[in-house]
Amino acid sequence: MKKVLFVSSEVVPFVKTGGLADVAGSLPKYFDKKEFDVRVILPKYLCMSEKWKNQLNYVTHFYMDLSWRSQYVGILEMKYEGIQFYFIDNEYYFAGPRPYGNIYQDIEKFAFFSKAALSALPVIGFQPDIVHCHDWQTGLIPVLLKDKFHEGEFFRNMKSIITIHNLKFQGVWDVKTVRDITGLPAYYFAPDKLEAYGDANYLKGGIVYADAVTTVSKTYAEEIKTPFYGERLDGLMRARSNCLSGIVNGIDYNEYNPETDPLIEKNYSAKTFRKEKIKNKRALQRELGLEQNDSVFMVGIVSRLTDQKGFDLIAYMMDEMCQQNLQLVVLGTGEEKYENMFRHFAWKYQGKVSANIFYSEALSHKVYASCDAFLMPSLFEPCGLSQLMSLRYGTLPIVRETGGLKDTVIPYNEYESTGTGFSFANYNAHEMFFTLKYAMGIYYDKKREWNKLIDRAMAMDFSWGSSARKYEELYRRLLGEEPKAEAPAQ
Ligand code: ADP
Ligand code: GLC
Repeated sequence: MKKVLFVSSEVVPFVKTGGLADVAGSLPKYFDKKEFDVRVILPKYLCMSEKWKNQLNYVTHFYMDLSWRSQYVGILEMKYEGIQFYFIDNEYYFAGPRPYGNIYQDIEKFAFFSKAALSALPVIGFQPDIVHCHDWQTGLIPVLLKDKFHEGEFFRNMKSIITIHNLKFQGVWDVKTVRDITGLPAYYFAPDKLEAYGDANYLKGGIVYADAVTTVSKTYAEEIKTPFYGERLDGLMRARSNCLSGIVNGIDYNEYNPETDPLIEKNYSAKTFRKEKIKNKRALQRELGLEQNDSVFMVGIVSRLTDQKGFDLIAYMMDEMCQQNLQLVVLGTGEEKYENMFRHFAWKYQGKVSANIFYSEALSHKVYASCDAFLMPSLFEPCGLSQLMSLRYGTLPIVRETGGLKDTVIPYNEYESTGTGFSFANYNAHEMFFTLKYAMGIYYDKKREWNKLIDRAMAMDFSWGSSARKYEELYRRLLGEEPKAEAPAQ
Protein backbone atom coordinates (compact mmCIF):
# COMPACT_ATOMS: atom_id res chain seq x y z
CA MET A 1 0.00 0.00 0.00
CA LYS A 2 1.42 3.38 -0.99
CA LYS A 3 0.72 6.14 1.47
CA VAL A 4 0.12 9.74 0.44
CA LEU A 5 -0.58 12.82 2.52
CA PHE A 6 -2.35 15.80 0.96
CA VAL A 7 -1.51 19.05 2.74
CA SER A 8 -3.82 21.93 1.90
CA SER A 9 -4.88 25.23 3.44
CA GLU A 10 -8.50 24.66 2.38
CA VAL A 11 -10.53 21.52 1.77
CA VAL A 12 -14.18 20.93 0.82
CA PRO A 13 -16.54 20.44 2.68
CA PHE A 14 -14.76 21.92 5.71
CA VAL A 15 -13.50 25.27 4.45
CA LYS A 16 -13.42 26.83 0.99
CA THR A 17 -12.46 30.09 -0.66
CA GLY A 18 -11.94 28.74 -4.19
CA GLY A 19 -11.15 25.83 -6.43
CA LEU A 20 -8.20 24.60 -4.36
CA ALA A 21 -10.64 23.43 -1.71
CA ASP A 22 -12.71 21.54 -4.30
CA VAL A 23 -9.62 19.74 -5.58
CA ALA A 24 -8.14 18.88 -2.17
CA GLY A 25 -11.51 17.63 -0.95
CA SER A 26 -12.60 15.58 -3.95
CA LEU A 27 -9.49 14.19 -5.66
CA PRO A 28 -8.48 11.96 -2.69
CA LYS A 29 -11.74 10.03 -3.06
CA TYR A 30 -10.86 8.91 -6.56
CA PHE A 31 -7.60 7.03 -5.99
CA ASP A 32 -7.56 3.27 -6.24
CA LYS A 33 -8.07 2.31 -2.59
CA LYS A 34 -6.43 -1.07 -3.05
CA GLU A 35 -3.15 0.57 -3.94
CA PHE A 36 -3.21 4.02 -2.32
CA ASP A 37 -3.99 5.23 1.18
CA VAL A 38 -4.50 8.96 0.68
CA ARG A 39 -5.15 11.12 3.72
CA VAL A 40 -5.56 14.87 4.05
CA ILE A 41 -4.34 17.40 6.61
CA LEU A 42 -5.60 20.96 6.97
CA PRO A 43 -5.85 23.69 9.62
CA LYS A 44 -8.75 23.73 12.03
CA TYR A 45 -9.94 27.27 11.48
CA LEU A 46 -12.18 28.95 13.97
CA CYS A 47 -14.27 30.16 11.00
CA MET A 48 -15.17 26.59 10.02
CA SER A 49 -18.86 25.91 10.44
CA GLU A 50 -19.95 24.50 13.80
CA LYS A 51 -21.45 21.58 11.96
CA TRP A 52 -17.98 20.29 11.12
CA LYS A 53 -16.16 21.46 14.23
CA ASN A 54 -18.58 19.49 16.39
CA GLN A 55 -17.80 16.27 14.59
CA LEU A 56 -14.02 16.36 15.02
CA ASN A 57 -12.39 13.93 17.40
CA TYR A 58 -9.47 15.05 19.54
CA VAL A 59 -6.41 12.85 18.99
CA THR A 60 -3.58 14.41 20.95
CA HIS A 61 -1.47 17.54 21.31
CA PHE A 62 2.17 18.50 21.74
CA TYR A 63 4.40 21.56 21.74
CA MET A 64 6.56 22.35 18.74
CA ASP A 65 9.47 24.72 18.27
CA LEU A 66 9.04 27.25 15.52
CA SER A 67 12.40 29.03 15.56
CA TRP A 68 12.58 30.55 19.09
CA ARG A 69 8.85 30.11 19.72
CA SER A 70 7.24 27.10 21.29
CA GLN A 71 3.72 26.55 19.95
CA TYR A 72 0.78 24.33 20.80
CA VAL A 73 -0.15 21.79 18.12
CA GLY A 74 -3.49 20.08 18.60
CA ILE A 75 -4.48 17.21 16.33
CA LEU A 76 -8.07 16.32 15.55
CA GLU A 77 -9.43 13.86 13.06
CA MET A 78 -12.51 12.83 11.19
CA LYS A 79 -13.37 10.26 8.59
CA TYR A 80 -15.62 11.57 5.86
CA GLU A 81 -16.81 9.77 2.73
CA GLY A 82 -14.12 7.15 3.27
CA ILE A 83 -11.23 9.61 3.59
CA GLN A 84 -9.20 10.19 6.74
CA PHE A 85 -8.84 13.90 7.50
CA TYR A 86 -6.54 15.41 10.12
CA PHE A 87 -6.83 18.93 11.47
CA ILE A 88 -4.10 21.04 13.05
CA ASP A 89 -5.40 23.12 15.93
CA ASN A 90 -3.85 26.33 17.22
CA GLU A 91 -6.18 29.13 18.21
CA TYR A 92 -3.54 31.82 17.95
CA TYR A 93 -2.88 31.16 14.26
CA PHE A 94 -6.24 29.93 13.03
CA ALA A 95 -8.60 32.33 14.79
CA GLY A 96 -9.36 34.87 12.01
CA PRO A 97 -12.78 35.37 10.40
CA ARG A 98 -11.41 33.88 7.16
CA PRO A 99 -8.70 31.32 6.39
CA TYR A 100 -6.43 34.03 5.00
CA GLY A 101 -5.75 37.47 6.44
CA ASN A 102 -2.85 39.88 6.08
CA ILE A 103 0.04 38.36 4.23
CA TYR A 104 2.51 39.05 7.08
CA GLN A 105 0.30 37.02 9.42
CA ASP A 106 -0.26 34.32 6.84
CA ILE A 107 3.49 33.97 6.34
CA GLU A 108 3.88 32.89 9.97
CA LYS A 109 0.57 30.99 10.05
CA PHE A 110 1.54 28.71 7.18
CA ALA A 111 5.13 28.26 8.35
CA PHE A 112 3.54 26.93 11.51
CA PHE A 113 1.04 24.79 9.62
CA SER A 114 3.70 23.30 7.33
CA LYS A 115 5.98 22.34 10.17
CA ALA A 116 3.11 21.12 12.35
CA ALA A 117 1.74 18.94 9.55
CA LEU A 118 5.07 17.11 9.31
CA SER A 119 5.66 17.01 13.07
CA ALA A 120 2.25 15.45 13.60
CA LEU A 121 3.03 12.40 11.46
CA PRO A 122 5.14 10.31 13.87
CA VAL A 123 2.65 11.19 16.60
CA ILE A 124 -0.36 9.88 14.67
CA GLY A 125 1.66 6.99 13.26
CA PHE A 126 1.13 7.76 9.60
CA GLN A 127 4.30 7.61 7.52
CA PRO A 128 3.49 8.72 3.98
CA ASP A 129 5.70 7.75 1.06
CA ILE A 130 4.71 11.01 -0.60
CA VAL A 131 3.68 14.36 0.80
CA HIS A 132 1.56 16.12 -1.78
CA CYS A 133 1.62 19.89 -1.18
CA HIS A 134 -0.72 22.48 -2.65
CA ASP A 135 0.13 26.13 -3.37
CA TRP A 136 2.41 28.54 -1.53
CA GLN A 137 0.90 27.90 1.90
CA THR A 138 2.62 24.50 1.91
CA GLY A 139 5.73 25.52 -0.05
CA LEU A 140 7.98 25.21 2.98
CA ILE A 141 7.26 21.49 3.35
CA PRO A 142 9.63 20.26 0.60
CA VAL A 143 12.27 22.57 2.08
CA LEU A 144 11.74 21.26 5.61
CA LEU A 145 11.89 17.67 4.36
CA LYS A 146 15.35 18.35 2.98
CA ASP A 147 16.41 20.24 6.12
CA LYS A 148 16.08 19.16 9.77
CA PHE A 149 13.45 16.52 9.11
CA HIS A 150 15.86 14.72 6.82
CA GLU A 151 18.03 13.85 9.80
CA GLY A 152 15.36 11.58 11.26
CA GLU A 153 14.85 8.04 9.98
CA PHE A 154 11.08 8.61 9.81
CA PHE A 155 11.28 11.33 7.15
CA ARG A 156 14.43 10.42 5.27
CA ASN A 157 12.90 8.74 2.24
CA MET A 158 9.73 10.78 2.08
CA LYS A 159 9.15 12.30 -1.37
CA SER A 160 7.31 15.53 -1.99
CA ILE A 161 5.18 16.95 -4.77
CA ILE A 162 3.94 20.47 -5.08
CA THR A 163 0.90 21.33 -7.18
CA ILE A 164 0.60 24.91 -8.34
CA HIS A 165 -3.02 25.99 -8.40
CA ASN A 166 -2.16 29.62 -8.92
CA LEU A 167 1.33 30.97 -9.58
CA LYS A 168 0.26 34.52 -8.78
CA PHE A 169 0.24 33.86 -5.05
CA GLN A 170 3.73 32.98 -3.86
CA GLY A 171 3.94 33.83 -0.17
CA VAL A 172 6.60 36.53 -0.33
CA TRP A 173 8.09 38.38 2.66
CA ASP A 174 11.45 39.81 3.65
CA VAL A 175 14.27 37.39 4.31
CA LYS A 176 15.03 38.63 7.80
CA THR A 177 11.48 38.06 9.07
CA VAL A 178 11.12 34.69 7.35
CA ARG A 179 14.44 33.53 8.81
CA ASP A 180 13.22 34.61 12.23
CA ILE A 181 9.90 32.80 11.76
CA THR A 182 11.19 29.57 10.29
CA GLY A 183 14.59 29.30 11.94
CA LEU A 184 15.94 28.08 8.59
CA PRO A 185 19.69 28.76 8.15
CA ALA A 186 21.01 31.50 5.84
CA TYR A 187 22.03 28.79 3.35
CA TYR A 188 18.45 28.53 2.06
CA PHE A 189 18.06 32.22 1.34
CA ALA A 190 19.93 32.32 -1.94
CA PRO A 191 18.55 32.95 -5.45
CA ASP A 192 18.86 29.28 -6.40
CA LYS A 193 16.78 28.29 -3.37
CA LEU A 194 14.13 30.15 -1.38
CA GLU A 195 15.01 33.68 -2.38
CA ALA A 196 13.52 35.52 -5.33
CA TYR A 197 14.29 39.13 -6.17
CA GLY A 198 15.73 39.79 -2.71
CA ASP A 199 12.78 38.37 -0.74
CA ALA A 200 11.93 34.98 0.73
CA ASN A 201 9.43 33.11 -1.43
CA TYR A 202 7.64 30.05 -0.05
CA LEU A 203 6.32 28.82 -3.39
CA LYS A 204 9.75 29.08 -4.94
CA GLY A 205 11.17 27.01 -2.08
CA GLY A 206 8.55 24.36 -2.77
CA ILE A 207 9.22 24.34 -6.51
CA VAL A 208 12.99 24.12 -6.04
CA TYR A 209 12.93 21.35 -3.44
CA ALA A 210 9.93 19.19 -4.40
CA ASP A 211 10.66 15.95 -6.22
CA ALA A 212 7.94 16.76 -8.73
CA VAL A 213 5.98 19.87 -9.65
CA THR A 214 2.56 19.78 -11.21
CA THR A 215 0.00 22.33 -12.20
CA VAL A 216 -3.66 21.96 -13.00
CA SER A 217 -3.78 21.96 -16.81
CA LYS A 218 -1.41 21.23 -19.67
CA THR A 219 -1.73 24.66 -21.20
CA TYR A 220 -1.00 26.45 -17.91
CA ALA A 221 2.08 24.23 -17.45
CA GLU A 222 3.36 25.65 -20.74
CA GLU A 223 2.17 29.21 -20.18
CA ILE A 224 4.02 29.64 -16.88
CA LYS A 225 7.32 29.14 -18.67
CA THR A 226 6.71 32.50 -20.40
CA PRO A 227 7.11 35.97 -18.88
CA PHE A 228 3.43 36.92 -19.39
CA TYR A 229 2.10 34.10 -17.21
CA GLY A 230 5.26 33.29 -15.26
CA GLU A 231 4.73 35.83 -12.46
CA ARG A 232 8.49 36.46 -12.41
CA LEU A 233 9.20 32.75 -11.87
CA ASP A 234 9.12 31.78 -15.56
CA GLY A 235 12.90 31.22 -15.53
CA LEU A 236 12.52 28.81 -12.63
CA MET A 237 9.65 27.04 -14.37
CA ARG A 238 11.81 26.60 -17.47
CA ALA A 239 14.65 25.32 -15.33
CA ARG A 240 12.33 22.82 -13.65
CA SER A 241 10.51 21.84 -16.84
CA ASN A 242 11.79 18.25 -16.65
CA CYS A 243 9.93 17.79 -13.36
CA LEU A 244 6.89 19.87 -14.33
CA SER A 245 3.68 18.42 -15.70
CA GLY A 246 0.09 19.56 -16.16
CA ILE A 247 -2.77 17.36 -14.97
CA VAL A 248 -6.18 18.83 -15.60
CA ASN A 249 -8.61 19.07 -12.67
CA GLY A 250 -11.87 17.21 -12.48
CA ILE A 251 -14.94 17.93 -10.40
CA ASP A 252 -16.94 15.76 -8.07
CA TYR A 253 -19.56 14.26 -10.39
CA ASN A 254 -21.71 13.15 -7.47
CA GLU A 255 -21.84 16.57 -5.91
CA TYR A 256 -22.37 18.34 -9.23
CA ASN A 257 -25.01 16.20 -10.86
CA PRO A 258 -28.10 17.77 -12.46
CA GLU A 259 -29.95 14.44 -12.16
CA THR A 260 -29.72 14.29 -8.37
CA ASP A 261 -28.66 17.74 -7.14
CA PRO A 262 -30.95 18.57 -4.19
CA LEU A 263 -30.06 22.28 -4.38
CA ILE A 264 -31.74 22.94 -7.71
CA GLU A 265 -35.43 23.42 -8.50
CA LYS A 266 -35.84 20.63 -11.04
CA ASN A 267 -33.49 17.75 -11.77
CA TYR A 268 -32.71 16.90 -15.36
CA SER A 269 -30.38 14.78 -17.44
CA ALA A 270 -28.73 14.79 -20.84
CA LYS A 271 -31.96 13.23 -22.10
CA THR A 272 -34.48 15.50 -20.40
CA PHE A 273 -32.83 18.93 -20.37
CA ARG A 274 -34.87 20.13 -23.38
CA LYS A 275 -38.02 20.01 -21.26
CA GLU A 276 -36.83 20.29 -17.69
CA LYS A 277 -33.86 22.71 -17.53
CA ILE A 278 -36.17 25.66 -18.20
CA LYS A 279 -37.93 25.08 -14.88
CA ASN A 280 -34.73 26.04 -13.11
CA LYS A 281 -34.54 29.25 -15.12
CA ARG A 282 -38.11 30.15 -14.19
CA ALA A 283 -37.47 29.52 -10.52
CA LEU A 284 -34.27 31.57 -10.50
CA GLN A 285 -35.94 34.48 -12.28
CA ARG A 286 -38.63 34.41 -9.60
CA GLU A 287 -36.15 34.11 -6.74
CA LEU A 288 -33.94 36.96 -7.95
CA GLY A 289 -36.68 39.30 -9.13
CA LEU A 290 -35.74 39.08 -12.78
CA GLU A 291 -38.31 39.48 -15.56
CA GLN A 292 -40.22 36.20 -15.99
CA ASN A 293 -39.33 35.23 -19.51
CA ASP A 294 -38.61 31.69 -20.71
CA SER A 295 -37.00 32.66 -23.94
CA VAL A 296 -34.53 35.34 -22.83
CA PHE A 297 -30.79 34.47 -23.04
CA MET A 298 -29.62 34.10 -19.44
CA VAL A 299 -25.90 34.47 -18.73
CA GLY A 300 -24.35 33.41 -15.42
CA ILE A 301 -21.17 34.32 -13.55
CA VAL A 302 -20.00 32.58 -10.36
CA SER A 303 -16.58 33.81 -9.39
CA ARG A 304 -14.11 35.53 -7.16
CA LEU A 305 -14.37 39.13 -8.39
CA THR A 306 -10.71 39.71 -9.21
CA ASP A 307 -8.67 40.87 -12.20
CA GLN A 308 -7.64 37.25 -12.85
CA LYS A 309 -11.17 36.46 -14.00
CA GLY A 310 -11.34 39.15 -16.67
CA PHE A 311 -13.72 41.52 -14.92
CA ASP A 312 -12.12 44.60 -16.43
CA LEU A 313 -13.29 43.36 -19.83
CA ILE A 314 -16.79 42.87 -18.46
CA ALA A 315 -16.77 46.28 -16.72
CA TYR A 316 -15.74 47.92 -19.99
CA MET A 317 -18.58 46.35 -21.99
CA MET A 318 -21.18 46.18 -19.25
CA ASP A 319 -23.46 48.96 -20.50
CA GLU A 320 -23.48 47.64 -24.04
CA MET A 321 -24.01 44.08 -22.82
CA CYS A 322 -27.01 45.17 -20.79
CA GLN A 323 -28.60 46.74 -23.84
CA GLN A 324 -28.75 43.33 -25.50
CA ASN A 325 -31.69 41.02 -25.14
CA LEU A 326 -30.26 39.08 -22.20
CA GLN A 327 -30.30 38.60 -18.46
CA LEU A 328 -27.16 38.52 -16.34
CA VAL A 329 -26.90 36.73 -13.00
CA VAL A 330 -23.76 37.37 -10.97
CA LEU A 331 -22.71 35.53 -7.81
CA GLY A 332 -19.39 36.55 -6.33
CA THR A 333 -17.32 38.50 -3.88
CA GLY A 334 -13.95 40.16 -4.15
CA GLU A 335 -12.55 43.50 -5.22
CA GLU A 336 -14.77 46.36 -4.17
CA LYS A 337 -14.65 48.08 -7.55
CA TYR A 338 -16.23 45.01 -9.18
CA GLU A 339 -18.73 44.42 -6.40
CA ASN A 340 -19.91 48.02 -6.77
CA MET A 341 -19.88 47.86 -10.56
CA PHE A 342 -22.31 44.94 -10.52
CA ARG A 343 -24.47 46.56 -7.83
CA HIS A 344 -24.67 49.68 -9.97
CA PHE A 345 -25.78 47.80 -13.08
CA ALA A 346 -28.28 45.74 -11.11
CA TRP A 347 -29.82 49.04 -10.01
CA LYS A 348 -29.68 50.57 -13.49
CA TYR A 349 -31.08 47.50 -15.27
CA GLN A 350 -33.57 46.15 -12.76
CA GLY A 351 -35.23 42.96 -13.84
CA LYS A 352 -32.34 42.28 -16.21
CA VAL A 353 -29.26 42.14 -14.03
CA SER A 354 -29.03 40.44 -10.65
CA ALA A 355 -25.95 41.11 -8.49
CA ASN A 356 -25.53 38.68 -5.61
CA ILE A 357 -22.47 39.90 -3.78
CA PHE A 358 -22.02 37.09 -1.28
CA TYR A 359 -20.96 33.48 -1.07
CA SER A 360 -23.59 30.77 -1.43
CA GLU A 361 -23.10 27.16 -2.34
CA ALA A 362 -26.83 26.73 -2.96
CA LEU A 363 -27.19 29.73 -5.25
CA SER A 364 -24.08 28.68 -7.18
CA HIS A 365 -25.72 25.36 -8.07
CA LYS A 366 -28.87 27.18 -9.16
CA VAL A 367 -26.88 29.47 -11.43
CA TYR A 368 -25.04 26.54 -13.03
CA ALA A 369 -28.34 24.77 -13.61
CA SER A 370 -30.52 27.68 -14.70
CA CYS A 371 -28.50 29.79 -17.10
CA ASP A 372 -28.09 29.27 -20.82
CA ALA A 373 -24.47 30.40 -20.91
CA PHE A 374 -21.66 30.98 -18.41
CA LEU A 375 -19.21 33.84 -18.88
CA MET A 376 -15.55 33.39 -17.84
CA PRO A 377 -13.19 35.62 -19.85
CA SER A 378 -10.14 35.07 -17.62
CA LEU A 379 -6.85 36.90 -18.02
CA PHE A 380 -5.22 33.69 -16.83
CA GLU A 381 -6.76 30.47 -15.53
CA PRO A 382 -4.65 27.61 -14.15
CA CYS A 383 -7.60 25.27 -14.63
CA GLY A 384 -10.95 26.72 -13.66
CA LEU A 385 -13.69 24.54 -12.23
CA SER A 386 -16.69 26.76 -12.88
CA GLN A 387 -16.65 26.04 -16.62
CA LEU A 388 -16.57 22.29 -15.83
CA MET A 389 -19.57 22.69 -13.55
CA SER A 390 -21.36 24.63 -16.29
CA LEU A 391 -20.65 21.94 -18.88
CA ARG A 392 -21.98 19.34 -16.49
CA TYR A 393 -25.26 21.27 -16.21
CA GLY A 394 -25.53 21.95 -19.94
CA THR A 395 -24.84 25.66 -19.49
CA LEU A 396 -22.51 26.63 -22.31
CA PRO A 397 -19.28 28.33 -21.31
CA ILE A 398 -18.06 31.49 -23.04
CA VAL A 399 -14.37 31.68 -22.20
CA ARG A 400 -11.04 33.13 -23.17
CA GLU A 401 -8.61 30.58 -24.56
CA THR A 402 -6.15 30.42 -21.71
CA GLY A 403 -4.93 27.74 -19.30
CA GLY A 404 -7.51 25.15 -18.34
CA LEU A 405 -10.28 27.01 -20.17
CA LYS A 406 -8.49 26.31 -23.43
CA ASP A 407 -8.05 22.65 -22.50
CA THR A 408 -11.63 21.96 -21.44
CA VAL A 409 -13.94 24.04 -23.64
CA ILE A 410 -14.12 23.10 -27.31
CA PRO A 411 -15.12 26.14 -29.36
CA TYR A 412 -18.25 25.80 -31.48
CA ASN A 413 -17.58 25.15 -35.14
CA GLU A 414 -20.76 25.75 -37.06
CA TYR A 415 -19.42 24.14 -40.25
CA GLU A 416 -18.54 20.85 -38.63
CA SER A 417 -21.16 20.98 -35.93
CA THR A 418 -18.63 20.41 -33.15
CA GLY A 419 -17.83 22.16 -29.89
CA THR A 420 -19.09 22.52 -26.34
CA GLY A 421 -18.95 26.27 -25.87
CA PHE A 422 -17.59 29.54 -27.25
CA SER A 423 -14.17 31.06 -26.95
CA PHE A 424 -11.93 33.92 -28.04
CA ALA A 425 -8.17 34.30 -28.06
CA ASN A 426 -7.13 37.85 -27.25
CA TYR A 427 -7.63 39.64 -23.97
CA ASN A 428 -9.81 42.23 -25.61
CA ALA A 429 -13.20 43.52 -24.48
CA HIS A 430 -14.66 43.70 -27.98
CA GLU A 431 -13.58 40.17 -28.81
CA MET A 432 -15.37 39.00 -25.69
CA PHE A 433 -18.45 41.02 -26.60
CA PHE A 434 -18.44 39.73 -30.17
CA THR A 435 -18.21 36.14 -28.90
CA LEU A 436 -21.06 36.71 -26.49
CA LYS A 437 -23.19 38.16 -29.27
CA TYR A 438 -22.28 35.27 -31.55
CA ALA A 439 -23.40 32.77 -28.89
CA MET A 440 -26.58 34.77 -28.39
CA GLY A 441 -27.26 34.59 -32.15
CA ILE A 442 -27.03 30.80 -32.08
CA TYR A 443 -29.29 30.69 -29.04
CA TYR A 444 -32.01 32.81 -30.61
CA ASP A 445 -31.80 31.82 -34.26
CA LYS A 446 -30.56 28.23 -34.29
CA LYS A 447 -32.08 26.60 -31.27
CA ARG A 448 -31.52 23.08 -32.60
CA GLU A 449 -27.81 23.81 -32.94
CA TRP A 450 -27.77 25.26 -29.45
CA ASN A 451 -29.35 22.12 -28.05
CA LYS A 452 -26.83 19.95 -29.85
CA LEU A 453 -24.09 22.00 -28.24
CA ILE A 454 -25.70 21.15 -24.90
CA ASP A 455 -25.79 17.46 -25.87
CA ARG A 456 -22.06 17.54 -26.49
CA ALA A 457 -21.31 19.62 -23.39
CA MET A 458 -23.20 17.22 -21.14
CA ALA A 459 -21.49 14.23 -22.76
CA MET A 460 -18.02 15.50 -21.78
CA ASP A 461 -16.42 13.68 -18.88
CA PHE A 462 -14.58 15.84 -16.38
CA SER A 463 -15.03 13.53 -13.44
CA TRP A 464 -11.78 12.76 -11.62
CA GLY A 465 -11.24 9.29 -13.15
CA SER A 466 -8.60 9.91 -15.79
CA SER A 467 -6.77 12.67 -13.88
CA ALA A 468 -6.60 10.57 -10.71
CA ARG A 469 -4.96 7.83 -12.84
CA LYS A 470 -2.36 10.38 -13.96
CA TYR A 471 -1.54 11.31 -10.36
CA GLU A 472 -1.27 7.60 -9.55
CA GLU A 473 1.24 7.20 -12.40
CA LEU A 474 3.22 10.13 -11.08
CA TYR A 475 3.26 8.68 -7.55
CA ARG A 476 4.47 5.32 -8.87
CA ARG A 477 7.18 6.96 -10.93
CA LEU A 478 8.37 8.97 -7.95
CA LEU A 479 8.61 5.81 -5.88
CA GLY A 480 10.69 4.15 -8.56
CA GLU A 481 8.02 1.74 -9.77
CA GLU A 482 7.51 0.76 -13.36
CA PRO A 483 4.51 2.42 -15.02
CA LYS A 484 1.54 0.09 -15.32
CA ALA A 485 1.29 -1.44 -18.76
CA GLU A 486 -1.35 0.24 -20.89
CA ALA A 487 -4.33 -1.94 -21.72
CA PRO A 488 -3.95 -3.15 -25.31
CA ALA A 489 -5.99 -1.18 -27.82
CA GLN A 490 -9.29 -2.83 -28.68
P1 ADP B 1 -10.73 29.90 -8.40
O1 ADP B 1 -10.23 28.76 -7.62
O2 ADP B 1 -9.68 30.63 -9.17
O3 ADP B 1 -11.57 30.84 -7.61
P2 ADP B 1 -12.28 27.88 -9.87
O4 ADP B 1 -13.16 28.01 -11.06
O5 ADP B 1 -11.21 26.87 -9.89
O6 ADP B 1 -11.69 29.34 -9.58
O7 ADP B 1 -13.14 27.52 -8.58
C1 ADP B 1 -14.05 28.40 -8.02
C2 ADP B 1 -14.97 27.63 -7.09
O8 ADP B 1 -15.54 28.53 -6.14
C3 ADP B 1 -16.13 26.97 -7.80
O9 ADP B 1 -16.50 25.82 -7.06
C4 ADP B 1 -17.23 28.05 -7.71
O10 ADP B 1 -18.51 27.51 -7.83
C5 ADP B 1 -16.97 28.57 -6.32
N1 ADP B 1 -17.39 29.96 -6.05
C6 ADP B 1 -16.78 31.12 -6.40
N2 ADP B 1 -17.45 32.18 -5.93
C7 ADP B 1 -18.52 31.70 -5.27
C8 ADP B 1 -19.62 32.31 -4.57
N3 ADP B 1 -19.74 33.63 -4.42
N4 ADP B 1 -20.53 31.48 -4.00
C9 ADP B 1 -20.43 30.13 -4.12
N5 ADP B 1 -19.43 29.51 -4.78
C10 ADP B 1 -18.49 30.28 -5.34
C1 GLC C 1 -6.87 28.13 -8.48
C2 GLC C 1 -7.05 28.60 -9.92
C3 GLC C 1 -8.12 27.85 -10.66
C4 GLC C 1 -8.07 26.37 -10.38
C5 GLC C 1 -8.10 26.12 -8.88
C6 GLC C 1 -8.05 24.64 -8.52
O1 GLC C 1 -7.69 28.80 -7.60
O2 GLC C 1 -7.29 29.98 -9.97
O3 GLC C 1 -7.97 28.08 -12.05
O4 GLC C 1 -9.16 25.71 -10.98
O5 GLC C 1 -7.01 26.73 -8.29
O6 GLC C 1 -6.92 24.01 -9.05
